[in-house]
Parts: sequence; structure tokens; C-alpha cells
Amino acid sequence: MTAGNHFTNEWKRTMRCGEPRAEHDGKPSVLNGWLRARRDLGGIIFIELWDNTGVTQVVFNPELVPEAHARARSLRSEYVMAVRGELRRRPEGTENPAIATGEVELAATDFILLSPSELPPFDPDSADEVSEDLRMKYRYIDLRREAMQKNLALRHRAVQYTRNYFDKNGFLEVETPIFTKSTPEGARDYLVPSRVNPGEFYALPQSPQIYKQILMISGCDKYIQIAKCFRDEDLRADRQPEFTQIDVEMSFVTEDDIMSLIEPYLIGLFKETTGADIPSPIRRLTWKEAMEQYGSDKPDLRIDMKIIDLSDAFRGDGNPFSKLLEEGGAVKGLKLPGGGRLSRKELSDLENRARELGSAGMANFQIRDGALKGPLVKFLAEEPCRVLVERSGLTPEDALFVMADRQWSKACEILGQIRLETARDRGLARDGWEFVWVTEFPLYEWDEAERRWFAVHHPFTAPLDSDVEFMKSDPARVRSRAYDIVLNGTELGGGSIRIHNPEMQSMVFEALGISPETARARFGFLLEALSFGAPPHGGIALGLDRLMMLICGAKSIRDVMAFPKNQKAQCPLSGAPSRVDKCQLDALFVASTAPE
Ligand code: AMO
Repeated sequence: MTAGNHFTNEWKRTMRCGEPRAEHDGKPSVLNGWLRARRDLGGIIFIELWDNTGVTQVVFNPELVPEAHARARSLRSEYVMAVRGELRRRPEGTENPAIATGEVELAATDFILLSPSELPPFDPDSADEVSEDLRMKYRYIDLRREAMQKNLALRHRAVQYTRNYFDKNGFLEVETPIFTKSTPEGARDYLVPSRVNPGEFYALPQSPQIYKQILMISGCDKYIQIAKCFRDEDLRADRQPEFTQIDVEMSFVTEDDIMSLIEPYLIGLFKETTGADIPSPIRRLTWKEAMEQYGSDKPDLRIDMKIIDLSDAFRGDGNPFSKLLEEGGAVKGLKLPGGGRLSRKELSDLENRARELGSAGMANFQIRDGALKGPLVKFLAEEPCRVLVERSGLTPEDALFVMADRQWSKACEILGQIRLETARDRGLARDGWEFVWVTEFPLYEWDEAERRWFAVHHPFTAPLDSDVEFMKSDPARVRSRAYDIVLNGTELGGGSIRIHNPEMQSMVFEALGISPETARARFGFLLEALSFGAPPHGGIALGLDRLMMLICGAKSIRDVMAFPKNQKAQCPLSGAPSRVDKCQLDALFVASTAPE
């Protein structure tokens, strides 16, 4: 069958495939779409015609329309067609309540084929069963299904809502360059060689951070951009090399201004896209509280379990951890509700998991026959045992895990991971959305491998005024004015109040081991701009892809991007990245050292 190339007015759709309803009974109609499924039943041909609004069943009856029926026999999956006929109610008992159009069908009188299709590599409706690379290679087929179209539509809705919200609040949308200079967001840069400046490279922005600060110095006051960012880092389910931020900056503000702008935005966005009512205000935890109670800087608050401090129960002579405590270590505990029924084997599996995560050991306690049981009980006096039970609220239903470490944060982090894994395995996480702000992150973090301090957020983040005095003497102690917004255990966004004076900025660069020369070479333009009247300013960037992943209930951010990269940062659809001709490289003054 050849394709009809005359897509004339008479073949234009009068309705979308998802629209026919019982009330349209008897209505002459034309539908345009893709053939999703074809069944021949007792001489009658049924097809499902799809477009991105839904499917309608089309029927070819050989007795009524012999000519069209004969031609319809050669129709195959994913053929594009225009069908004319009359909508009618399906015969009683044959309705399909699973689809919105299930009460009706189009009794076809005629059709034209607009485009045939090769045999598709997979059926869009069973795309979940094929490899993701195959889905990405044939992305146009993968996208021809309800779940993916729904994700695209929700993303569109979210972007419209976002533009509108910030516009109403007086924000100016400003585009910043893609060909730019390296900014220190902590990942590797993607570089673009400059042909007209031999040997020189642009860096693709890891975020518009420096430009948005310069916009504040420019008097822009309130900036928003739905910005593409590029980071060459290890990819995961929630990380892509190229992703989108809702990037915001404001002048003359403190943390509270940013939070009270973003809270109603998020609450409105979730109402608009999911219908959910998010309670306000959103909880706030300092980084220290989040780490101590949940063992994570992005706590999942849908899980009620909290880490508790048991250090004092283990202090004193004869206690197994007394020495470690004297040296500044900590003993932390985590109660697992329902853990009283764990077998020895299950307890030892969890202990092994804690070892895998880097702990020296994890002790367990249960109450059996009215007595505290567990490998450490024989080393503990009566009073510590009482404190331990009382503090944790241990009942015969539960198990208590206890971990000691020289570093409190390590004990907390490992218990935090055990908390997540045991709770998720047992379905202990509530449904719903639980937001939390995490504030007062440390300004610096020591990197043992590189033996130097790194900025936890980025080097433009201001320290807390009260901690400035420790910047030289005790960098680890300095808290910053950075905050993250976390949802159900995912970091959605982060920001900070920035440094707006050039001396302080130079001091932070120095603490980070960035020499004045390097600072001038890399960020001189920012330092200079800061010296020409910089207003106090701050902002935040939310990961749009991560937001959409949660809103859409997707397993990975790849499912909420039209054309994502795979785990190797490749685009299986276009074949990017790819080798280029040597003459192209020559023109750019670049030579490849990759093996042929
Ligand atoms: P940050 O680096 O924390 O801050 O990034 C902000 C948010 O961007 C998202 N994100 C990513 N999403 C997908 N793939 C990635 N590779 C990826 N990396 C980050 C996350 C993250 O919370 N300029 C600062 C913001 C500021 O200070 O205003 C910045 O970029 O959701």
C-alpha cells in the first residue's frame, strides 16, 4: 500500500483520538493518528488509533465497507492514517472502562494512509520491558505513549506555572551565555575550543552562578532563568550531564526572603501539577540537626525513625566504648519499629550491611522475655541498659541498632543509610510529599585525598557572621548561609546568601587554597565587579528535572527529559558524541590523543 500524500482539508481531524464520548453517538468524524493495535475478529477489523490525547477504537466491517476493509488488512503497527466514519456507542457488553473513549468506537467508512512504518523495534505500550538504550535510540517511538506524553505535558505545565509565578512577583527573565568561563560548581567543565582565539576554550556553564551575581551588581534586583547547565560528572538516576535549573537571584535579601518566595512557589506548583496540598510552613532543620537525627543532609522525613545519641549511656569505666568516647567519639542509636521479630540471620545481615557502608560494627539490642538481649548486654551495667531502653523507647516489638565511631558524623551517616534501606524495604515511608529546608551547612569540607578544603556549596557563599572569626583558626567550624530544599530524601535545590564584599571573597578563595593569581585569572571579573558597589544578594537554583521526576513519579530524570543522555553521557538517538574530521580539529587548533 502506498502512502496517500494528499493530506487535504477533508482528511483533517474533527476530533482528537482521546476525545470521543458516548454523547458523540452518531457524529460523523475524522480522526488522525498512529495505528497502535490491529485485531481481525470474525472478518471485522478493529484498530486502535492513537494520538497524544488517547486512543479510539476504529472498526472496519467487511459487509458495510468492503473496499476500505480490504485495504485495512495491510495496515500495520505505527502506520499514520486518517480515518473517516461515524462515532457510535459500542454494543452492550463490549465497552472498555479502562480507557476514556471506551464507550464508543468509530465505524469507519474510508481512510487514507499518510505514512507507513517499518516494523517498530518495540511496541510503545510495552516499552518498559526493553532496554533503556533501545528506548533512547528510538526515542520518538518511546515518546509515543501515554506515560511519556504525560511527563512532557506536566513539565510544560510546571514551566508555565514557574514563569507566571516569578513574573507576578516582579522577576525579570534574563538569559546568560552558554559560551562562558569556568565556574566552580565542583564538577568538570565541558569545554568548547575557540577557532578565532587559537588555544583558548569556552566552558559551558555548570550554572549561571557568576552571571546572576553580576546581574545583581547591575541593579537587576530580581532575576529568574530556566537555565541549561552542563556538568561532566558521574551519572546517576538523578544526574544528567545537561540539565535544567530554575535559577533565581535577589538583591537586599536574607535567607528568610528566599525561603518565603520559594515556599509558596513549590506549594502552588505541587497543587497545580499533582493536586496535593502541601502544609505550610515547610520545616527547617540545620545541617547539624539533619545529620544528627537522620544521618543525612537530605533527610527523607516520610520515615519516622530518628537517630538518637546514646553516648552518655556508654561513658564510664568498663563500658565497651568508654575510650572512644573520651577521645571525642560518639555512640548513636537507631530503633527499628517491628525489628523485635528479626531473626539472628537478619540481624547479622544488617550488621554486614553496616560494615559494607564502612562501620567497624553495629550492635543490636532486642527485648526478649522481659530482658534486654544483644551481644553487648553482658558488657553493660544495669544503669546504662536502663538509659538505653528509656532513651530509645525500645519495646519487645522493636530492635535497636547501636554504632560507635570516632567521628559522630560517620556513625550518623551509616545509621542514616540503614534507616533508609530498612524503612524502604519494610514500606515504613509514608506516602505523600515531605519538604524540609536544611540550613547552616558547613562552609568548608576537608578532602583527605587532595588534602585541602573545598567549598561545600560554592566559594561565593557567605559564612554566618558569628563564625567569621574561625575562618582562619578552625575552618571546619565555620557554618555558611547556604540552604537546600529537600523533598522525600531528594535534594531539589540549593542556594545561599552570597559574599558581597571583595575582601571576604578573597579570604574564602585563600582558605580554599586558591592563590590570589589563580583567583584573579579565574574570577577576577567577579572580584572586580564586587568592588563597584555590590548589593547584599542571594538566591537559589532548583533542579527542574529532579522536580519533575518526583512530580511525575518517574524512577529517573531521564524519563522527564525528551532527549536524555545514557549512563555513558551518550545520546543513542543522534549518536552524539562522535569523532570529527581531522580538518575540523585542525581549524580549531585541537589535536586528539584518543586511540584510533
Ligand atoms: P547546585 O550545584 O546545588 O547549586 O545545583 C542546584 C540543583 O541543580 C540540580 N542538579 C542537577 N540535576 C540534574 N543533573 C545534575 N547533574 C545536577 N546537578 C545539580 C539539583 C541541585 O539541587 N549555582 C548554585 C545555586 C545557587 O547557589 O543559587 C547551584 O548550581 O536539583
